[in-house]
Amino acid sequence: EKIILSHLPEGRVAVLPVIDSTNQYLMDRIATLSSGDACVAEYQGQGRGRRGRHWFSPFGANLYLSLYWRLEQGPAAAIGLSLVIGIIMAEVLQRLGAQDVRVKWPNDLYLHDRKLAGILVEISGKAGDAAHVVIGAGINLSMREPVNAVIDQGWINLQEAGIKIDRNDLAASLIKELRQAMPVFERDGFAAFHQRWQVLDNYYNRPVKLLIGDREIKGIAHGIDMQGALLLEQDNTVKAYLGGEISLRGL
Ligand code: BTN
Repeated sequence: EKIILSHLPEGRVAVLPVIDSTNQYLMDRIATLSSGDACVAEYQGQGRGRRGRHWFSPFGANLYLSLYWRLEQGPAAAIGLSLVIGIIMAEVLQRLGAQDVRVKWPNDLYLHDRKLAGILVEISGKAGDAAHVVIGAGINLSMREPVNAVIDQGWINLQEAGIKIDRNDLAASLIKELRQAMPVFERDGFAAFHQRWQVLDNYYNRPVKLLIGDREIKGIAHGIDMQGALLLEQDNTVKAYLGGEISLRGL
């Protein structure tokens, strides 16, 4: 298996064969980084998913990518960021040939109603200070069923879907597009991206359930509001649900 990124985008990109986690790699070096610095790995021993879950990261089979950004306006300015990352990634994947890729609120990419990629944004920094943001993306390219997998939703990879995208091209395009989108997000916030969500939304106008702790709320998804909150219709009333510990599933 070749080491990825034979052609690199401009700027700093660390190409690591084996690492614990690409997010952790950047976190450990945060004081030395400049916005846009990125890293990719062939294998992660401790790949991190959301809510402390493990992210299966078999050697050579997928893309594991992280990018650093310094948000001058502080942690509060990161609201909606993971939705923006999802939009950018879905658009890149579509452009490279995966036309059916969609976003699933708040931050997964879906293909044929199954999970194709996950996004983990980790932020450090106090209110009032600049925030250090590490954006992590794991995209399934050719992974087979993991042994002892505890994966809580159906997943898919590009190969299984019959889609051929060169991993170098994908990594380089993602890094390039994320680097271009971040200054726009910093200046104009989520509002600058809001209208691009709807056409990409896997569950737009579809019945879904939200899992909030032990609670389950069923309704029809109606996209998101200007803050990035999910709009759910129940009994002819639409309520907004803001991120955090909520999971969405199709019915
Ligand atoms: C999720 O739970 O859906 C988010 C998964 C994010 C995985 C990526 S792989 C690259 C980066 N490094 C990590 O340790 N996690 C993210």
